[in-house]
Amino acid sequence: MSEPAALSTIRWEKDETGVVTLVLDDPDQSANTMNNAFKTSLTAAVDRLEAEKDSIRGIIITSAKKTFFAGGDLRDLIAVTPAQAQQAFEAGNGIKRDLRRLETLGKPVVAAVNGAALGGGYEIALACHHRIALDTPATKIGLPEVTLGLLPAAGGVTRTVRLLGIADALLKVLLQGTQYNATRARDAGLIHDVAATPDELLTKARAFIDEHPESQQPWDAKGYRIPGGTPAQPKFAANLPAFPANLKKQLNGAPYPAPRNILAAAVEGSQVDFETAQTIEARYFVELVTGQVSKNMIQAFFFDLQAVNSGANRPKGIAPRTVEKVAVLGAGMMGAGIAYACAKAGIQVVLKDVTPEAAQKGKAYSEGLLDKALSRGRTTEQKRDELLARITPTADPADLAGCDAVIEAVFEDVALKHKVFKEIQHIVAPDALLCSNTSTLPITLLAEGVERDQDFIGLHFFSPVDKMPLVEIIKGERTGDEALARAFDLVRQIKKTPIVVNDSRGFFTSRVIGQFINEGVAMIGEGLEPASVEQAAAQAGYPAKVLSLMDELTLTLPRKIREESRRAVEEAGGTWQPHPADEVIDRMVDEFGRPGRSGGAGFYEYGDDGRRAALWPGLREHFAREGATIPFIDMQERMLFSEALDTVRCFEEGVLTSVADANIGSIFGIGFPGWTGGVIQYINGYQGGPGREDLVGLPGFVTRARELQTAYGDRFAPPASLVEKAERGEKFSD
Ligand code: NAI
Repeated sequence: MSEPAALSTIRWEKDETGVVTLVLDDPDQSANTMNNAFKTSLTAAVDRLEAEKDSIRGIIITSAKKTFFAGGDLRDLIAVTPAQAQQAFEAGNGIKRDLRRLETLGKPVVAAVNGAALGGGYEIALACHHRIALDTPATKIGLPEVTLGLLPAAGGVTRTVRLLGIADALLKVLLQGTQYNATRARDAGLIHDVAATPDELLTKARAFIDEHPESQQPWDAKGYRIPGGTPAQPKFAANLPAFPANLKKQLNGAPYPAPRNILAAAVEGSQVDFETAQTIEARYFVELVTGQVSKNMIQAFFFDLQAVNSGANRPKGIAPRTVEKVAVLGAGMMGAGIAYACAKAGIQVVLKDVTPEAAQKGKAYSEGLLDKALSRGRTTEQKRDELLARITPTADPADLAGCDAVIEAVFEDVALKHKVFKEIQHIVAPDALLCSNTSTLPITLLAEGVERDQDFIGLHFFSPVDKMPLVEIIKGERTGDEALARAFDLVRQIKKTPIVVNDSRGFFTSRVIGQFINEGVAMIGEGLEPASVEQAAAQAGYPAKVLSLMDELTLTLPRKIREESRRAVEEAGGTWQPHPADEVIDRMVDEFGRPGRSGGAGFYEYGDDGRRAALWPGLREHFAREGATIPFIDMQERMLFSEALDTVRCFEEGVLTSVADANIGSIFGIGFPGWTGGVIQYINGYQGGPGREDLVGLPGFVTRARELQTAYGDRFAPPASLVEKAERGEKFSD
């Protein structure tokens, strides 16, 4: 029989026993997606299955690509306008209807998941009666839509609720967007079985068909009830109010609409029949996909992240290199973390400190992390031992012989940094890449006195290194393209995300996060209620509240940076602009002896175990003023705007050159709220708060900046480049 033309992305293979294998294989793309060709192919495939039903025993769905199925096409989704919402709704209906026809055909359908099945891929698998996944590192299973501000709308909410029950569907699958490997997916109930080889995958699929000739979904069986109950049952209903309350607590009041809509779709959908549940799910999806937050999140977490990681900023035409053996200088908090990250990526590490004990202590940090991972089943004893064997602690510079890269992480002191580079530059490999993990010092200054200053570069990690995905690469004035390319490759080798910036004091991240902290601290100086300032940061979506973050970083640090910066500005003939936060910080340290967490006292009080307790009551006593109050939205926007405006200044000064780097760096490095899509996307997609819906996009942002300038000072004056673009009706970037 000739294939109908409409089956363009699905191959139809029927064997002599009556088993039809639908092979997902889009000829025009490297991965299968829910594009229009797939939609028509799916309809055609299900039509044909229905037409030839009598000669069919069962159906296997698998893929000819490395991934099983990649999900929705984000280029389409980010472009959806409210006017097209109905269209999006209708298009989704097609897939939902076809998957429903498939699962109610009366024949066993098996998903033979041969690679990643995330989002739409897992939704296809959910419509199958039996799900088996190939157990390889590439197999990832889950519904990560929430991380892009969306929900799974091809039956993902409706079916996971019916498969796992409301609570497990929300907690294990929908709200966090957790991605499982094959065995964990099986243990969590997302799939039924795993297979070790592609052959076994298909053999098991066939065996299921042989054994279950008349399959149906559990939710279509007579007497089916949603596991764990539904709000229609009094016991469940009594617990229901805790759901939104917990969610609110988890989000800390931050404006992420997807979790709310997911919760609503799951709960409402559980009380109605399957078809109605799918309609409810679709309605909540349309609301999300036409809103600004999903566009921001898709831009940042998909397009920008891809641009950054794929090397849009890496100099072209330089052959990639891998590092074999790295010298980490300084085994303190950062050096220990960097050593772990490098060893984890298979690199030999020589970890050097001033004494063997200090170096050994740095290595012990890796042991601690690995023991924890071992106890949680996340690593094996063999892997643990192999990783540790790659770290050689030492106090002897001679042990650095042969290292092809150096990452320096000694105290933040120019003279000391100069000294350690001088000491090792003739011991390591003659062309070794020379990196400093300084968090604030100019790279050009540190490179002075290093013989090969073209090979010298900043590699700014974030703490804790094992958890933080970003590394800021800083190009000094004399850094060569070769060094930049090698630094980029090294960051990718250890599976982190590299952004590239030009040299300046504080680079991009340390400088911009300083604005956030200063703004919060300045509000204390204005007499505002400290708890409100903290709450404003949380509700704006910052992962760390502003005063608690200041305490973590210690209050003496900004003082030191401030003094050094003042000296540099004045030496260059400029005028130093003090910040209203300065006085608060000075009083906290000098008058009240509260330098932050490491000193046992800061904006917060700390228990004997070092744990943060309550806000220090003295703040209210010494700073708060009766009647001092400003709108809550102003508190939030002062923090957001201070960082966004300083980022624009970074572009004007040439510190930043890439919008994707700015967006990703701000979210991954310094906790700029993810719902914004990053500092620049926040400006481009700006939406005024309640009652200020007239303020939209860059012009709205500029108007609002001027309002903040009038109310709170010239640091909110919109930079010239922004004003010009707003007047021309452009975005900051396309
Ligand atoms: P730390 O004080 O924990 O560690 C510094 C280590 O360097 C100590 O173990 C010290 O014994 C060692 N050291 C001193 N002189 C040495 C020498 N001549 N040879 C070898 N080792 C020597 O400091 P931390 O926090 O690890 O910071 C290190 C660097 O990383 C600083 O430049 C800092 O600005 C930067 N940084 C810190 C971040 C943080 O969150 N703490 C974040 C990003 C960068």
